[in-house]
Amino acid sequence: MNLDRRSVVAAGALLAASMPFAGLARAEIGPDHKAKIKGLIRQMTLAEKLGQMTQIPGGRQKALNSRLDATMLDRVRKGEVGSFLHVAGADALRELQRVAVEEGRLKIPLLFAMDVIHGFRTTLPVPIALASTWDPEAMKLAARTAAEEAWAAGLHWTFAPMVDIARDARWGRVVEGAGEDPYLGSRMAVAQVEGFQGGDLAKGRRVMACAKHFGAYGAAVGGRDYDSADVSERTLAEVNMPPFYAAARAGAGSFMTAFNDIAGVPTTGNADLVRHQLREQWGYQGLIVSDWNAVKELIAHGVAADQKEAAVLALKASVDMDMTSNSYAEHLGSAVAEDKSLLPLIDEAVERILTAKARLGLFDDPYGFGDPVAEKAVPAKNRPIARDLAKRAMVLLRNEGDVLPLRLGQKVVLIGALADDAMSTLGSWRARGQAEEAVTLRAALEQGNVITGYAPGVTTRSDDVSGIPAAVALAREADVVLLAIGEDYDFSGEARSYADIGLPGPQEALIAVLKATGKPIVAILMNGRPLGLEKDLAGIPAVLETWYLGLESGPAIAHVLTGEVSPGGKLPIGIPRHGGQTPMTYAHVPTGRPANADLLIDSARYHDTAIGPLFPFGHGLSYARFDYGAVTLGAEAVPANGSQTIGVTVTNSGKVAADEVVQLYIHDPVASVARPVKELRGFVRLSLKPGESRRVTFTLTPDQLAIWHAGKWLIEPGLIEVMVGSSSEDIRGKASFRVTGRGEGKHPAASIPTKFEVA
Ligand code: NOJ
Repeated sequence: MNLDRRSVVAAGALLAASMPFAGLARAEIGPDHKAKIKGLIRQMTLAEKLGQMTQIPGGRQKALNSRLDATMLDRVRKGEVGSFLHVAGADALRELQRVAVEEGRLKIPLLFAMDVIHGFRTTLPVPIALASTWDPEAMKLAARTAAEEAWAAGLHWTFAPMVDIARDARWGRVVEGAGEDPYLGSRMAVAQVEGFQGGDLAKGRRVMACAKHFGAYGAAVGGRDYDSADVSERTLAEVNMPPFYAAARAGAGSFMTAFNDIAGVPTTGNADLVRHQLREQWGYQGLIVSDWNAVKELIAHGVAADQKEAAVLALKASVDMDMTSNSYAEHLGSAVAEDKSLLPLIDEAVERILTAKARLGLFDDPYGFGDPVAEKAVPAKNRPIARDLAKRAMVLLRNEGDVLPLRLGQKVVLIGALADDAMSTLGSWRARGQAEEAVTLRAALEQGNVITGYAPGVTTRSDDVSGIPAAVALAREADVVLLAIGEDYDFSGEARSYADIGLPGPQEALIAVLKATGKPIVAILMNGRPLGLEKDLAGIPAVLETWYLGLESGPAIAHVLTGEVSPGGKLPIGIPRHGGQTPMTYAHVPTGRPANADLLIDSARYHDTAIGPLFPFGHGLSYARFDYGAVTLGAEAVPANGSQTIGVTVTNSGKVAADEVVQLYIHDPVASVARPVKELRGFVRLSLKPGESRRVTFTLTPDQLAIWHAGKWLIEPGLIEVMVGSSSEDIRGKASFRVTGRGEGKHPAASIPTKFEVA
């Protein structure tokens, strides 16, 4: 029952004519299980089949298990439920499973699911923060840590990772993903799938992953959650799809379809995208679940007249499981009575659901998940992991005059309500995280005697400015002012889109008066999305992006402020100057009139805002300094099926040990269609001691440069520029080579991992 990458997804092209590996996923469960599943399907009534295809909330997000009453247990006995979400707890779930496998007619085990996104009991940094590590191993460790705790609570399945590409900071769910880039997003998707699932789902104390929200959920127009996406076929293939493709190939056990539509076709009813592309072309055999109530919402979308039509559309699209809308259970019966050709589609869906249960080992041991003892003890080993991940995630955005790290003997004060907001450290998906177990920045700095005083100043939720005078008085006594600003946790997450991504509450007023004291300020950003703060941050010498860092937030930030550790994170999404610049990406096309600093020249820019982001994609400073040697290439030209090596030596010329993320970008200056000015195609996070050098060699293949064109991944001959640097704008070296022939790639270019060696 090995759920590894070879077995789940066909190694085929997006539009491969033949799919030689398709079907392996089903073959990978043993013949006994296959026979058992076939036998069960033969015995099942239509109602029982639709029961398997039905997922019911066993509680609410904030009151897990609260709906597991006698009526619900009866539904389980009758085989009306295949899976529950919003449930947890080893004992409670064992009892629920017992009812299914001992009192149900066919004794089919239930699947228990929950949104375990960034930690379960031990809250880890939010996904956008974990992506800021630019370290897939860190991301994988986070997923594994979350999975182990979720497993102990009896869960089989998490609705993670969210691999939606996000380029619009107004979208509240930026916090849940890996940012704006399909290459970084693909690496982080794979890391999470591997971390959540491990090698063998049945034995690993892990949980099944769910790549979501398949389609173009992150491309909602205007950054309004749930809203329509209108992306070109090329953008869909080159930008939105690669992380999903990478997750599928990594063996993600399940996918979730998005709520929204692409150009009028809601993904939950999109047979072209789900059944044709994901299943047939990619060969994906895992379980596909709808998002919450999304099957029924096909009516609101205006593509189904009633729930029966909605259910048929989703079934035809190959959505196996209906999350909460009951459309399958209540309406597919009469649909089948009218159209018998739906029956095989139902059988396929049931087979995939039962196969997922078999892969999890539930037919062999339905009680194999959950450990009431381990569940109660908050695992001591996981707190240091939480702290370490938090330290790796922070991004130093600005540090003029080396204000940071703080120096001994300085009088330091702390201002800002967010510095004392334990709930916000937990971020958007708290799972079982407890605010009282979190260490805030205030607590950590007081415990460490780093600060001489604290004042909240203002909060994000009220207009009350009465705390400002005390904050100013405190600042006046200080040598350095630490100022926590941003958004509380509830500004980001699902349905938390904002038109204005400036600072909420009277924070701007607080900043203005603090600046007037003339004291050096260190702004510590706490937020789930990039904020447009150019004006607020003007004149502030040091800015540290911390996102929401989880239970160990305070100590981790304190370590960076005091210089015990040098910050090494980089931005996985650019930070705009102003919300009006969104959506934005570093990987834009050049246009016929590229942005020009001279306003007298008409060009692709805003008149009232400087060009580009305030802090670009890939940006992040360090307490050390890194020098880059010349970029060297293995060859001047490569054939379409060849490969190119790109080498660079990086030296820590600073005084402290620190991490640097070496980034590789490509550009195709003349192609059949305009190509992005830069595209990330490789990165590696190095840890270097003072004076230490490392040589990094990336190996790139021309299929990583392929362009999606009329249904194919075209490799075109011509010049390719490569750029190596410390951020998408801090390019330290360039070189170029020729691709000498034409060719065709098999995989989405950005989904292909770039090999690298560090010597
Ligand atoms: C809706 C969200 O869009 C999705 O991400 C989540 O997994 C489900 N609700 C279940 O909570």
